[in-house]
Amino acid sequence: MNRLSRSRRDAIRNLAGLVAGSPLLHAQKDLPDTGSRQPSIDEIANIFEMEAIAKERIPRANWDYIAGGVDNEWTLRRNREMFDKIIFRPRMLVNTEKMDLSTTLFGTRIATPILTAPSAGHQQAHPDGEIATAKAAAAKGTIMCLSINSSIPPEKVAASTEAVKWWQLYMREDLDSSRERVDKAIAAGFKAIVLTVDGPYNSHRERLLRGRIRSTAPPGMTTRRRTTEPHPYGLEPVLVHKLDWAFLATLKQWAKVPVLVKGILTAEDAVLAVKHGADGIVVSNHGGRYLDYAPSSIEVLPEIVQAVGGKLPILADSGFRRGSDVLKALAIGAKAVLIGRPLFWGLGAFGQAGVEKVLQLMTTELALAMGLSGKPTIASIDKSLVRIEK
Ligand SMILES: Cc1cc2nc3c(=O)[nH]c(=O)nc-3n(C[C@H](O)[C@H](O)[C@H](O)COP(=O)(O)O)c2cc1C
Repeated sequence: MNRLSRSRRDAIRNLAGLVAGSPLLHAQKDLPDTGSRQPSIDEIANIFEMEAIAKERIPRANWDYIAGGVDNEWTLRRNREMFDKIIFRPRMLVNTEKMDLSTTLFGTRIATPILTAPSAGHQQAHPDGEIATAKAAAAKGTIMCLSINSSIPPEKVAASTEAVKWWQLYMREDLDSSRERVDKAIAAGFKAIVLTVDGPYNSHRERLLRGRIRSTAPPGMTTRRRTTEPHPYGLEPVLVHKLDWAFLATLKQWAKVPVLVKGILTAEDAVLAVKHGADGIVVSNHGGRYLDYAPSSIEVLPEIVQAVGGKLPILADSGFRRGSDVLKALAIGAKAVLIGRPLFWGLGAFGQAGVEKVLQLMTTELALAMGLSGKPTIASIDKSLVRIEK
């Protein structure tokens, strides 16, 4: 059906049902009523409005894969809720005439501390897939981190823009083929490897089971795993379940570019990451998609920042939707944040322009929150800016 030719009445009914029925409405309680018709891209006021449009345009099975969390989706909800516990302590009469949101990560100057998180199968949301995301990230002066489960080959995504990009690795296959994939990514020009460590077993996404999609792979994509015998508890292990911290040294030898470890949620693991030579940490619960009742990233960020003591850059993701969320993480001590689902919202709603809009809206919100709290630059942000409620 040509959605653009829908009658106005259909569109109204659709939007009303969408707003009332969205399971994410409860997770994202700040999702507004977008009114009686779909806004054009220029009218979009915040990224939740993009979510509403994308949900209508993306096929149901794909949407469930993108939006869902694991089990009770407790962690998914907590990812939003814990931002409400952090209150600003804004300062007045600071000269904020010259705002500058740029920062540097591993030698790369970026215009905004908001990166795109590695996420599988962007073509689920738009045929231009990861190329659109890469171009949007480049246009907004930030870094794209490409998933190993990209719907477009990494070489093509790498060649689509000149901007610095990172590549994310899951250890799902045997060591040799994993090494081959790392070599290819480095040869293609990716400038850092992000090793995701929080999924030693495939998780149980019930929205997908209801949709009768058994695999956790993105709809339309297959995973090349199953290198192990069936597990006695019926779990689906992936290679990382056999690895330990010693593997980091091996990966660092393969990579010869900075290696970040993604999926850290405790001070203990952060200390181990430092000890075993990680170049950076991504505090993440995978957007609530693996262990349910894992804490939100923002609530564990303080202990991780303290444990690492400035020895390496700490990034965070999971639930970042507003510029104020980003500012809270920066105040606690993160160097930058990454966004996952909002990329699919932008792609699904408006393709590349939509991802650009997502990055622009969140960056503008961040700039405003900084300007209103007396913090003109990233360097001027410190933990005196926030009070964390118990
Ligand atoms: C649809 C989808 C696919 C994802 N695929 C990957 C992946 O391939 N590798 C990975 O490390 N993380 C993956 N993630 C997790 C993201 O990198 C990130 O941790 C998470 O999306 C952040 O939470 P947010 O979606 O609330 O912003 C995926 C997330 C989503 C929503």
